[in-house]
Amino acid sequence: MDLDFLRIVPSIPFILEGIGVTLLFVFVSALLGFFIGAILSLFKISNLSVLKWFAEAYTSVFRGTPLILQLMLIYFAIPQLTGYDIPMFLAGILAFGLNSGAYISEIIRAGIQAVDKGQQEAAAALAIPYKPMMKDIIMPQAMKNILPALMNEFITLTKESAIVSTIGLLDIMRRAQVVSANTYTAFEPLLFAGLIYYILVMILTLFGKALERRLRRSE
Ligand code: ARG
Repeated sequence: MDLDFLRIVPSIPFILEGIGVTLLFVFVSALLGFFIGAILSLFKISNLSVLKWFAEAYTSVFRGTPLILQLMLIYFAIPQLTGYDIPMFLAGILAFGLNSGAYISEIIRAGIQAVDKGQQEAAAALAIPYKPMMKDIIMPQAMKNILPALMNEFITLTKESAIVSTIGLLDIMRRAQVVSANTYTAFEPLLFAGLIYYILVMILTLFGKALERRLRRSE
């Protein structure tokens, strides 16, 4: 066995720069995913069956096929179809945002529907209209289910974001591969990248735990 971390020392700043790329990528994807997920969740709890059907079909397709395939479709198939050469960052956030939207729509829908039905009945008994009931009674309670699950989705996105390296975006993963090719070492750069992902996920996990504690205290 010959592990030699000194060989990758000059490349460490190059790999570290990937943290910013990965975090920006995840943040923008999560934002897009939240936006799509929020709208889809409203469709799912609405009484209009065409909206419901659309949201269910959307979720089914995006959860039922591999994320890497969706990414490849957007990055390689759109140019073939339209002649428009989509930039890789845009292709990446589209794939991740559209995919995450499906998962987030389920998180929000489940969070809302987990609120005891008695709350809605009590609001109806007090003749509180739909909008204030949702905003002031149902949503604050639903948030307790939704926020921790959203945090989990953010962690998942952080790890899954490594997939975007396959189209060439210079994130943490891709940079580790570049260093690996340049230094003829495989283990050291990958191990280093793994350490970075692990630290990022641990930070997000601690953040999530703190959030849950706060939510519990407000009970
Ligand atoms: N590896 C899974 C796939 O290929 C990841 C799905 C993304 N998950 C998520 N919660 N956004 O489909």
